[in-house]
Parts: sequence; C-alpha cells; structure tokens
Amino acid sequence: MKEVRIGVIGTGFMGKMHANIFSRLPNCRLVGITDKNSREASEVAKKINTRVFKDYEELLLSDEIDAVSICVSDAEHLGPAVAAAKAGKHILLEKPIATIEQEAEIIAKEAAANNVKLAVGHLLRYDSRYRMLKYSIESGELGEITTIYTRRNSPISDGPARYGKHGNLTLHVAVHDIDLVLWMMQKKPIRVHAESVSIANKSLGIEDAIFATIKFEDGSIGCLQYNWALPKSFPTHIDAKMQVVGTKGFGSVDCSDQGVWICSDSEGLIFPDLTHWPEFSGQIAGDLREELSGFVNSILHEEDFAITPNEAVESVKLALAIIESIENETVVNLATK
Ligand SMILES: NC(=O)c1ccc[n+]([C@@H]2O[C@H](COP(=O)([O-])OP(=O)(O)OC[C@H]3O[C@@H](n4cnc5c(N)ncnc54)[C@H](O)[C@@H]3O)[C@@H](O)[C@H]2O)c1
Repeated sequence: MKEVRIGVIGTGFMGKMHANIFSRLPNCRLVGITDKNSREASEVAKKINTRVFKDYEELLLSDEIDAVSICVSDAEHLGPAVAAAKAGKHILLEKPIATIEQEAEIIAKEAAANNVKLAVGHLLRYDSRYRMLKYSIESGELGEITTIYTRRNSPISDGPARYGKHGNLTLHVAVHDIDLVLWMMQKKPIRVHAESVSIANKSLGIEDAIFATIKFEDGSIGCLQYNWALPKSFPTHIDAKMQVVGTKGFGSVDCSDQGVWICSDSEGLIFPDLTHWPEFSGQIAGDLREELSGFVNSILHEEDFAITPNEAVESVKLALAIIESIENETVVNLATK
C-alpha cells in the first residue's frame, strides 16, 4: 500500500479538523466524508474539495476506502465502529472509545476479530510535553512514582456551551488525564473516590467540577481535578497540569501558558493554543496532526499506534468508576470488580 485512503464519519467540531488534516497529510488521501447533517457535510466538503457520502453505511461500502476516522459524539461510537470493523476498514475513533464498558469491549473485540487497526484518539499521547515526562519516568530517573496529580480546567463557554446537557465531564474531559495517569503509572488502580459539584451548570444538569482520588495496587496515589466552569474571560481554553513525585525525583507539565500572550482592548488577555490544533495558513498543526499521522503510519508501516485498544477500554472503566463513586457517594473498590 502506497497511501491510505480515508473517509471521515461525523464532521462536527473534531471531524472538520480531521478532514482538513487528512486532505493535506502525505501518504494519505481523503476520499470523502459523511455527517447526519448533510448541509454541514456539504459545506465542509466544498471547503476541502472532497465528496459527501449519504451515510456511513454508503461510505463503508466503498472499495476506495481503506480506513475511517469516526468523529461522532461520545455515546454514538458503537454503531459506526462495529460497522467499520465488519467492513474491514481500519479505524481511528475519537476518545473515549465508548461511554459504556460493554460497548467499549465490543468495539475492541470486533476490531481484533476482523483484523483491523483500532486507534483511539487520546491525542495527549502525541503531546511532546507528556511524552517527555513519560520517558523520564520510564528511564527510572524519578525512582518509584508515589503520587501523580492532574488538572484540566476550561471555560464554561467551551464544553458546556458546545455539548449542553449531553456533556459529561468525566467521559469527555477527564478521560484524557485518566488515560495519561494509567500510562504514566503502569499500575493497577484498586480504589476510587470522587466528589462533584454542579452550580454554574445546574440548569443543564451537568457537573461544573470533579475531584477524584485513586489508590494504586502498590500504595501510590493519584489526584485528578477537572473543571469546565471557569469564566468566559479566562485567557486559555485549557488550563492543564500534571505533577509526579517519585522516590528520586519530580516531574511537572504545565500547559496553561504556552509562551505566547496576546493582549488587546477588544479581546483582553489570550494564551493561544499552540499545541493541539493551531491553524496557520489554513493548515492545522499540533498533536492532533501528529496523532492522525501516527494512524496513517501505523497502517502503512505496520507500526504500533500510541494507544492500544485495551488501554482505551481501561480508561473508560476507570472513568465509569469515578462516575459510580460520585453517583453512589461511595468509595469504589476496583480490586473486587
Ligand atoms: N481529542 C480531543 O481533544 C477532542 C475534543 C473534542 C471532541 N473530541 C471527541 O470527538 C468526538 C466528536 O465530538 P465533537 O465535539 O466533534 O462533536 P460534534 O457534536 O461537534 O460533532 C459530531 C458530529 O457527528 C455527526 N453524527 C452523529 N451521528 C452520526 C452518524 N451516525 N453518521 C454521521 N454523522 C453523525 C453529528 O451530526 C455531528 O455533526 C467525540 O468523541 C468527542 O469526545 C475529542
């Protein structure tokens, strides 16, 4: 195979960017896109000069397509992912793999049974800052990791405004750090306790913030903090941090200020995104581009994608344990599950 021929399913916030990137990546060709909202799909197709398929069933029937990128909302991954696996198409599936444990396992099982790649888009695995910290932990220079702390805060005008009552802070946002924590620690979580608050987003019936603690099998602990109710005027879309303490060292990632400050009378102070999907002259760069390129290379060169399907399933299981702890106001014991 000289190039990977790709179709994008769902062209909302993320799918538009996937389609844009695939239309320009080397060693790959964007064959077409589809969205339930056909007007939206036509507009995206016109901009990047590609074809619109009627629905994902029609797209998956095409012999011209080797792989699909699935960018539909979190709770709708099962249908297109299983259909793509059965059609023998390699799959890039936006995170989280699913919102229900059984669905996550079915998707992973179907991909394996049909011998197709399943790449779940936890894009922070392609963020150089987290990768550097991971290398440092792996090298042993920090010793045994005893604590890990993560933070991911964003303005109320982002997630809650975009997803409304369908937004889920743990499965949509926290799952990024849950995946990173499991990847950094490489230890089994045995106990979870979490608390949430809903005041600013109460009318939508969704949470503002969550604090979760995780106990690992060797006694080490994790603390995860999320909030998507920061004021609209907050200068960055994502105020994220990670800190690890080991028996021989300390490591920290700080993603809030990325080195560029723009301050104007009209917009106030802004820290623009330089990491995930900054756009320069119509081209999207950043870790999203790295992730999509990693997917293409994993097919062309039979390389491993950064996240295994099993890791994606495990991150959903831990996310669901956090939700269970909040809903039942209890400590969730994972060792007995
Ligand atoms: N990696 C990240 O940082 C990141 C950021 C945001 C969203 N996401 C993920 O991307 C995925 C999509 O989120 P979004 O923000 O783009 O949502 P969105 O609501 O903006 O877009 C989803 C699109 O899918 C379409 N759709 C739904 N069902 C469909 C179907 N059966 N066939 C074709 N189209 C269908 C909808 O019409 C909509 O246009 C989610 O899994 C989300 O968690 C990832």
